[in-house]
Amino acid sequence: MPTRYAVEAEGLVKRFGEVTALDGLGLTVPEGTIAGVLGPNGAGKTTTIDVLTTLLEPDAGHARVAGRDVVAEAAEVRAVIGLTGQFVALDDNLTARENLELFGRLLKLGRRRSAERADELLSRFDLTDAADRRSGTFSGGMRRRLDLAASLIGRPEVLFLDEPTTGLDPRSRAVLWDVVRELRSDGMTILLTTQYLDEADALADRIVVIDHGRVIADGTADDLKDQAGGSVCRIATGTDRIRARVLELLAGRPGLTADADGVAIAATGASTLIEVVRILDGANIPVEDVALRRPTLDDVFFRLTGNPREDQATAEEATR
Ligand SMILES: Nc1ncnc2c1ncn2[C@@H]1O[C@H](COP(=O)(O)OP(=O)(O)OP(=O)(O)O)[C@@H](O)[C@H]1O
Ligand SMILES: [Mg+2]
Repeated sequence: MPTRYAVEAEGLVKRFGEVTALDGLGLTVPEGTIAGVLGPNGAGKTTTIDVLTTLLEPDAGHARVAGRDVVAEAAEVRAVIGLTGQFVALDDNLTARENLELFGRLLKLGRRRSAERADELLSRFDLTDAADRRSGTFSGGMRRRLDLAASLIGRPEVLFLDEPTTGLDPRSRAVLWDVVRELRSDGMTILLTTQYLDEADALADRIVVIDHGRVIADGTADDLKDQAGGSVCRIATGTDRIRARVLELLAGRPGLTADADGVAIAATGASTLIEVVRILDGANIPVEDVALRRPTLDDVFFRLTGNPREDQATAEEATR
């Protein structure tokens, strides 16, 4: 069966005066999957979400969400999406229940359906006990959950989450991750942005890394880790004498390096590890440890985006 895409964007350009926030960005998200859009501050994550959710019109390029064009069929797109923005969109003077009912009525669900849906979501997000408290008194984690609940009132086909776990403690993050996974198993398509590599690694079926408004890498977490130059086989040698012997035995291997703790070579996978163990064993060399180290998504990210601090400073200057 051909893949059906819930999100298809091509050549998106968006300029704000001198700043080019999107510079020909394209991405696709297959139906029923979670896509993670990863990028440093100012990379264009929120702008991408704003275009896909019809809040901003692109200057060039086009995008379809659930098969509808985000410009020509903006109202149809809005009817089938949910959005949780980077900044919480709740009315602090209303209770949790009132906030949800308000969203329901804005979606023209009617008073009774809105109340029912609010109850369902309060219970799903473990907020029933807090339902009648003003959301202004909620902790950050509770507000995020309520905000997410609000974006689900209309049972969207495609859900957009802009940095859903920024500022949350590890427990609240884990709760949100579970909710997002549950939504996918219900068949929903989810596009989320994040600055956290572990989050993209844990949640996303595919990761799109963006910087300066362009896609700089795209694939599964494993694909991206492979692109980061592949794995390394490390041999912890213990003594200088053993290290010298190991260096001799592995002379000429690609990526051969040595430091105080041992020796490393580039690895093509587990076969490199096995081969190294055989060589060392054959020469009767005792070593402390031989291990394969996969690059982490952090390695990928820093390699692709350069120094994250510099990028952040540039982004902050640009917003000033
Ligand atoms: N309304 C606006 N007016 C002017 N410049 C803007 C506007 N919105 C975004 N930009 C600029 O566009 C670029 C991309 O911004 P965007 O908010 O999409 O980044 P982001 O990846 O979401 O960053 P963050 O991680 O900080 O949320 C930045 O340089 C930003 O300063
Ligand atoms: Mg943003």
